[in-house]
Amino acid sequence: MAKDVIIACDFASAEETFAFLDKFTGKKPFVKIGMELYYAEGPAIVREIKARGHKIFLDLKLHDIPNTVKKAMAVLSSLDVDITNLHAAGTKAMMEAAIEGLTKEDGTRNTMLIAVTQLTSTDQESMERDIMIHEPLDKVVMHYAKTAMEAGLDGVVCSPLESGKVHESCGENFLTVTPGVRFADGDKGDQKRVMTPAQAREIGSDYIVVGRPITKAEDPVAAYERCLKEFLG
Ligand code: C5P
Repeated sequence: MAKDVIIACDFASAEETFAFLDKFTGKKPFVKIGMELYYAEGPAIVREIKARGHKIFLDLKLHDIPNTVKKAMAVLSSLDVDITNLHAAGTKAMMEAAIEGLTKEDGTRNTMLIAVTQLTSTDQESMERDIMIHEPLDKVVMHYAKTAMEAGLDGVVCSPLESGKVHESCGENFLTVTPGVRFADGDKGDQKRVMTPAQAREIGSDYIVVGRPITKAEDPVAAYERCLKEFLG
């Protein structure tokens, strides 16, 4: 499996995004486009970044009735991004419908689909109080991962702390894509549970999603190279 570092391009406009990507002369890092940039610029930004030769993780976290998600995924399938995602909380039926939507008429699917389990911003207390789930958080995450696997998804977004356990219960080929990565000597920002790129490698993350440690670095290209080197070992 191809392990890689995905840069979270959390920028507000195409202009800022391209000013950032232009620094990477000759290199084509894997990038994540999230809601902020997608809602600001629409599908054109995805097509343009793809045309420049980058792999893309389109992080839109769909969650709706199965029919709506299926139709939305059918639209996204034409963008031919490498990875996209949804919320496992939308149920197995919704995840199965999403796979159907992403699959083209000839039966092929170019986009890997991964599920968000519980957001890392949700903790035991808020999960119990606000969404009335009373099982332990790690058990909920594992259950969602297994349900996603049974629905035919390719993996999950999870904390790097959960990657090992997800692989144990869902198999080595089930992808774990993990944010919350920081350099040992870096600023944690608002991320609470963090790991270094080397620790994420050791625990078995397949892809790490890294934003501010690269985008806000004085030398983003050097920070990206360092991250890649530490993660790939
Ligand atoms: O800047 P930083 O490295 O914290 O960025 C992490 C990226 O991963 C952000 O785009 C954030 O929205 C995303 N993410 C996260 N935690 C999750 C899911 C996504 O940090 N559980």
